Amino acid sequence: MKATFLTVVFLAAMGTIGFAATADEGAALFEARCTLCHQMPDPAMLNAGQWDAILSVMKKRIEQKGMPQLPDDEIKTIREFLHSHARQ
Ligand code: HEC
Repeated sequence: MKATFLTVVFLAAMGTIGFAATADEGAALFEARCTLCHQMPDPAMLNAGQWDAILSVMKKRIEQKGMPQLPDDEIKTIREFLHSHARQ
């Protein structure tokens, strides 16, 4: 019984740590990739749908500048970060 309880606490803690790592990674990637051409935008200034539109425009801007395209998994992480901090 006690072991089961400890397992639950352990798994809950791992879940929290896992989530925090992903959120930090999103913030770090956003800061690294989205400040190359302009200042860092405020994630709370747009809603989730508007961020999706911006991300596809930014892909074009990166292409136009001849810069290496952001890998899909990085876009996905940045997108998740923006969605979780977006305006409602
Ligand atoms: C290759 C350079 C470049 C990179 C990298 C870049 N942007 Fe931009 N961004 C621009 C330019 C140029 C504009 C000016 C508006 C336009 O041309 O659409 C802009 C404008 C913006 C705007 C304002 C849009 C508006 O309509 O006022 C936002 C928000 C934005 N970028 C977000 C991002 C995010 C998020 C990232 C990271 C995924 C990013 N940008 C990466 C070039 C870039």
